[in-house]
Amino acid sequence: MKKYVFITGASSGFGEACAHIFAKNGFSLVLVARRVDKLEQLKVSLQNDTVNIHCLELDIRNEKEVIQSINSLPEIIKNNIHILINNAGLAVGRSSIENAVTDDWERMIDTNIKGLLYVSKAIIPFLKLHESTQIVNISSIAGKEVYPGGNVYCATKHAVDALSKAMRIDLVSHGIKVTNIAPGAAETEFSLVRFKGDVQTANSVYDGFEALLANDVAEAIWFVTSRPAHVTINDITIMPTAQASATILYKK
Ligand SMILES: NC(=O)c1ccc[n+]([C@@H]2O[C@H](COP(=O)([O-])OP(=O)(O)OC[C@H]3O[C@@H](n4cnc5c(N)ncnc54)[C@H](OP(=O)(O)O)[C@@H]3O)[C@@H](O)[C@H]2O)c1
Repeated sequence: MKKYVFITGASSGFGEACAHIFAKNGFSLVLVARRVDKLEQLKVSLQNDTVNIHCLELDIRNEKEVIQSINSLPEIIKNNIHILINNAGLAVGRSSIENAVTDDWERMIDTNIKGLLYVSKAIIPFLKLHESTQIVNISSIAGKEVYPGGNVYCATKHAVDALSKAMRIDLVSHGIKVTNIAPGAAETEFSLVRFKGDVQTANSVYDGFEALLANDVAEAIWFVTSRPAHVTINDITIMPTAQASATILYKK
C-alpha cells in the first residue's frame, strides 16, 4: 500500500509544489484547501503519475469540519498517512497595530495557529499507527524575527515555531519526527492575499531581487521527509540569496 502525505493549502504555492514532488516520488496524496476546483485541476495535472489522489474541500478554521472530514476519509487512506504538511496559512494586511482591521487578526490567528492545531490533533492518531512518521510545520522568517507592520502575522508564525518544538517533545515517544520550515520571501499567491487582491502592490514585493519559488521550498520539504528513519531535521530557514533578514533585502 502506498504511503499518503496529507498536505494542507495544496491549491497554490508551496502546497501545490509539494503535491508535484511527492507524487513524482511515489506518494499518494490527500490535498486540502477551500478552493476544491483548484485541487481538482491539480489532480488532473498529476494524472500521469501512478498515485492515488484524494481532494478534500476544507476550511481548517472550522474545528467540527476538520474532525468530520478527516474521520470520514476512507480507512485505506487514513490508516496510511505517514506525513502531515501543515502548510495552509496566510498574512492579511501590513498595518501597525493601532490601525489594523481586527478581522484580519482573526483570520490569521484562526488559520495559522488554531487551524494547524485542529488538523494536527485529528491526524496524529493515524501517524501513531506507523513507525517513523513526520509532521512538517510551515512557519516563516516571520516566526524568527519581527518586522514593521508584521505584528500579528509574526506572532502567529512565532507560535508555529513554538508549537513545532512542543510537538517534538509531546510526540518523541511515538517516533513522530517534527520539522519546522521557515522560508523568507517567496513568490506565490501569498502577497496577493496579504494585500487583498491589489496586484500592483503584491507584485512590487518581488521587484528588484530574485525571490524563492514555491518549488525551492517544496524541495527542502522533500529533503527533510526523505532522511533515514533515525535522522530528524528539526529546523530549516530557507531564504532568497538577496535576503539577509526579515527586513534586509538587497534590491537592484
Ligand atoms: N510566500 C512567502 O513569502 C512565505 C514565506 C514564509 C512562509 N510562508 C507560509 O507558507 C505557507 C504557504 O504559503 P504560500 O506562499 O504557498 O501562499 P499561497 O500561495 O497563498 O497558498 C496558501 C494556501 O493556504 C490555503 N489556505 C489558506 N487559508 C485556508 C483555510 N482556512 N483552510 C484551508 N486552506 C487554507 C490556500 O488555499 P485556499 O485559499 O484554496 O483555501 C492556499 O492553498 C503559509 O503558511 C505562509 O504563511 C509563505
